[in-house]
Amino acid sequence: MKFLVFLGSLRDSTPPRPARLGVRVTEAILECMTTCYAQHETELIDVKDFPPDAIFKPHFAYPENKAPSQLRALAEKIKHADGYIMVSPEYNHTMSPALANLLNHFGSSLYSYKPSAIVTYSAGQWGGMRAAVGMRTFLSELGCLPVSAMIHVPRAQETLNEDGSLKSEENKDAWFNYFGRTLNQLAWWAQATNEYREKVDPHSLIKSFKNSPLERNAP
Ligand SMILES: Cc1cc2nc3c(=O)[nH]c(=O)nc-3n(C[C@H](O)[C@H](O)[C@H](O)COP(=O)(O)O)c2cc1C
Repeated sequence: MKFLVFLGSLRDSTPPRPARLGVRVTEAILECMTTCYAQHETELIDVKDFPPDAIFKPHFAYPENKAPSQLRALAEKIKHADGYIMVSPEYNHTMSPALANLLNHFGSSLYSYKPSAIVTYSAGQWGGMRAAVGMRTFLSELGCLPVSAMIHVPRAQETLNEDGSLKSEENKDAWFNYFGRTLNQLAWWAQATNEYREKVDPHSLIKSFKNSPLERNAP
């Protein structure tokens, strides 16, 4: 199976130090995926490679095949992935606006009928859990339903080195076990939905909106 790991860290300024704290969290998740889930393919999608547009224009607002090529390539990756890992900092108790902006580019039909895993972190003690609660609603609306377990990394700068290795290597098993609770749920749901999508095409049962989300309104 194929998983996309979205890194929602864009801040390139200090204070607060260190900037882009999310890089080390994502590296730790990628290391866990490579070590414990080597049978699956994992690809990093970094929001910093997709500078926000001055004016937001969703992918589906472009004429057919006229969206910027970088967005078209990402749309293909989202469409063909079996699940998503969303790594976000907490800014004022909400998810990364850069991550939301990038995910909002694409219609929910690309993400739908697949699972996602929520990973949050912060420099402080709550590990981004308030952002994580909001991410459940956001990701559910995108159609990539978040698994029940979540990963929160409080004080990420004290736990992880810049390359994602643990400052105390003796804690590695405990952290990977903790990550594994969420990642195992993700892998299980990804396998289940992958097999059932092969049998029944959900898009043939539930039509995507043609013009507007108003199409789902009550009569
Ligand atoms: C605008 C802003 C808002 C923040 N809000 C929160 C917050 O609500 N909760 C929290 O735990 N940390 C908050 N922080 C601290 C972040 O956890 C810390 O800066 C972290 O490094 C952000 O991740 P990043 O470096 O990958 O952007 C905030 C930081 C900034 C810059």
